[in-house]
Amino acid sequence: MTAEAGDAARILVVDDERVIREILAEFLTLEGFSVHTVEDGEKALTELRLRPYDLLITDLKMPRLSGLQLLERIEAERLGVLTVLMTGFGTVETAIEAMKKGAYDYLLKPFKVEEVIHVVRRALYRQRLQAENIRLREALTIYKVSEAIALSHDIDHILDVVLRAAIDEVKADVATLHLLDARTGTYEERVKVVAADGKSHGLPSPAFTVMTEQFALGSPILAHGGKASRFFTEHTAPSALSSFVAVPLQVRGMMVGVLNVFSFTPGKKFDEGHRKTLSVLASRAASAIDNARLYGELRASNDSLTRANLSLEDMFQQTVAGFAQALEESDLYTRGHSERVAVYSEILARGLTLPEVEVSRIVQAGVMHDVGKIGVRYDMLNKPGKLTPEEVAVFRQHPEKGKRILEPVPCLHGLIDGCWCHHEWFDGGGYPRGLRGHDIPLVGRVVAVADAYDAMTSDRAYRRALPHEVAIGEIERCAGTQFDPELAEAFVRFLETWRLGMRERGQGSLIPR
Ligand SMILES: [Fe+2]
Repeated sequence: MTAEAGDAARILVVDDERVIREILAEFLTLEGFSVHTVEDGEKALTELRLRPYDLLITDLKMPRLSGLQLLERIEAERLGVLTVLMTGFGTVETAIEAMKKGAYDYLLKPFKVEEVIHVVRRALYRQRLQAENIRLREALTIYKVSEAIALSHDIDHILDVVLRAAIDEVKADVATLHLLDARTGTYEERVKVVAADGKSHGLPSPAFTVMTEQFALGSPILAHGGKASRFFTEHTAPSALSSFVAVPLQVRGMMVGVLNVFSFTPGKKFDEGHRKTLSVLASRAASAIDNARLYGELRASNDSLTRANLSLEDMFQQTVAGFAQALEESDLYTRGHSERVAVYSEILARGLTLPEVEVSRIVQAGVMHDVGKIGVRYDMLNKPGKLTPEEVAVFRQHPEKGKRILEPVPCLHGLIDGCWCHHEWFDGGGYPRGLRGHDIPLVGRVVAVADAYDAMTSDRAYRRALPHEVAIGEIERCAGTQFDPELAEAFVRFLETWRLGMRERGQGSLIPR
């Protein structure tokens, strides 16, 4: 007879007398317990192997298997159920013998209902405490292990922590962990062995096919002595092997490895509780290893992205250099102008403490600012005399032309403003669009000052280079009309500091006189 009651404590009653079974089942069910009854010890063992019970109440004198023999078998098979014996031969000796064999308590027949309830409740309380204690201890270990491995991205470290915890937790001698190599489908990718005594035990190779089948069936791998042989290739367990447990490492329903635990201590047997603890450990290990692998993959793809970015950056620099070269060759007379404008633009941008990315964009824009001159006739650029109004009109197209040269190259779009706007005037009197004040992009206003200073301090076809002081005076004079007044003032200041530094470094000959 079985009474189901959800979370109610499960009690197995074993007695060859039907009346006793029925009475116990009836009033224990009334008390809210879930009760199952069988008539002999063999059936009780079968039942205990099939389902978990919180308490076993068994008669002492029964045919086939006595209560004491049943107790011995429960102990031997480590079925882990708390037992209360019923005896009609109420002698102290029998009771003591039963307690020695591991019984928790005993009841003397004939018993009173209240007495049975009292003993059952006390036994279940004890059982719950035991179970909670075990769970707490397991939880603590698992927590510590999880803490230790959760943030680790080092698979070797994770394996080490897990194997040491496995050995400590079930008092094993050796633990091994085999990880599946997803590419080859073999379990030899990472094998780690940790032995409690640090010795090599000549371990056999696990038979992964047999194990996988067993795990797929939901059957635990827990075997003692020679019975463990089938879980090894060659079908031989080490002669000194006492006990063996294997649990799978699973990630998203896929088996990714196996944790194996060995005992070579005579008489030592792992039990179902040990196997469950190792299962929890294996599941934590599996997710930590999965995380570490994902992290590894992420880092690898990040590295290749960084490499790709670097080569893009190289390509960008080469493109800029290529354009600058083309420009230099089209205008030999102003050779070095682009490079110097880039230097002066950088002095101003750095002095303004602009973000590094902006400084670098301004420097590149300095190099590229006159790229539109590639489209202007060479003889006109280097004409010694005054340009005709028509020639001026053509020359003034170079900012627009620069914009059009850069537009088809997406990676050069950041440099368009420098080309397009470096001849705009702060008061709106410049070209090509007559932009005014801060409507002119910063890069355009910066390059305008740098461009003008270099143009004045370099030899041109139509005049000799002007001295530094004259050029500075001109920039100050045109602050607020041609140039952004704040930038003009800042440029003069930062330029003085730079020139001082150049002289101190013995590079005074490289600066305009
Ligand atoms: Fe220009």
